[in-house]
Amino acid sequence: MKNSTILGNSTLTVNRIGLGCMGMSEFYGSFNETESIHTLHRAIDLGVNFFDTADMYGSGANEKLLGKAFKSKWDKVVLATKFGVMRGANGEWLGLNGQPAYIQKACEQSLSKLGTESIDLYYMHRQAPDVEIEVIVGAMADLVKQGKVKYIGLSEVNAETIRRAHKVHPITAIQSEYSLWSREPEQEIFEVCKELGITFVSYSPLGRGFLTGAIKSRADLEAGDFRLNNPRFTEDAIKENVKFVEVIEQLANAKGVTKAQIALSWILHQNDDITAIPGTRNIHRLEENLGAYNVTLSQADMQLIEESIPKMTTGSRY
Ligand SMILES: NC(=O)c1ccc[n+]([C@@H]2O[C@H](COP(=O)([O-])OP(=O)(O)OC[C@H]3O[C@@H](n4cnc5c(N)ncnc54)[C@H](OP(=O)(O)O)[C@@H]3O)[C@@H](O)[C@H]2O)c1
Repeated sequence: MKNSTILGNSTLTVNRIGLGCMGMSEFYGSFNETESIHTLHRAIDLGVNFFDTADMYGSGANEKLLGKAFKSKWDKVVLATKFGVMRGANGEWLGLNGQPAYIQKACEQSLSKLGTESIDLYYMHRQAPDVEIEVIVGAMADLVKQGKVKYIGLSEVNAETIRRAHKVHPITAIQSEYSLWSREPEQEIFEVCKELGITFVSYSPLGRGFLTGAIKSRADLEAGDFRLNNPRFTEDAIKENVKFVEVIEQLANAKGVTKAQIALSWILHQNDDITAIPGTRNIHRLEENLGAYNVTLSQADMQLIEESIPKMTTGSRY
């Protein structure tokens, strides 16, 4: 299996299993800076170069963490960050913003927190409903001209938005939720990405941890965990959605690998250039997840998954 791919229209080569850093600063329970930095450094040692963050993760804390960890290692890193979801000083949610002046300021703040001169891949996190995509991408293209951003991407957009955006400035990557229990991008997005030469980046590829079998009930989640408010993690939804885990487990046991490795390998088997950014705070799981490169799924395995995994997940994604 191919471990790396060229990112969209860029000259950057990224490994197909990158590292999502969000959980190191917020959302999935407690975190520890020392452990996170060890994990980030171990990732580099293992050849991982594709790291994903956003200005809103930990209200800026996640970008600062990466700035600290990568201080003398930027030459080994392809960093993606995002703008558009505003947070207040105490983490409060302030809505979406796509105004050009805001985008300029958000980018400069991210550069300052990261302590770097340019961002490899800058995503619009979510589109503000009051600003046309052409205006937003125009502002992102200005950042490219200024040398503050190398390439641009969009997160959670539909096919039409991708086409409109791509006419203003080449879109390098599209990031959306994609995993065995979130298959919406198969309907149109994969096709548009292929046609326009855009890399697809799967976020939450482990179903926010659920597909690994690690979450069997709400009691497995710490107080304050974002998933406790997610419709897929009500006690009833968990009881239904466990069917996904059972099929994954059956395959994992037959192959002597882990459930996380099956879930990630299934994504890599969708096409030669798809990438995934599983999130983890610890070295042991990072190493386990990278083991997915060594898992081959035969046509029969893929068919078994197709036939046995329910097409409908209980609970919406958000
Ligand atoms: N564009 C967007 O709107 C958007 C939205 C969400 C996420 N993202 C990005 O995508 C990245 C990944 O998504 P995600 O973190 O939501 O979900 P994920 O990768 O599907 O799952 C992460 C969860 O799974 C656990 N985990 C990881 N490896 C495991 C393993 N081998 N066995 C058991 N549990 C394991 C992690 O816990 P531990 O930390 O304890 O290992 C964490 O709780 C994020 O870090 C973020 O950068 C983007």
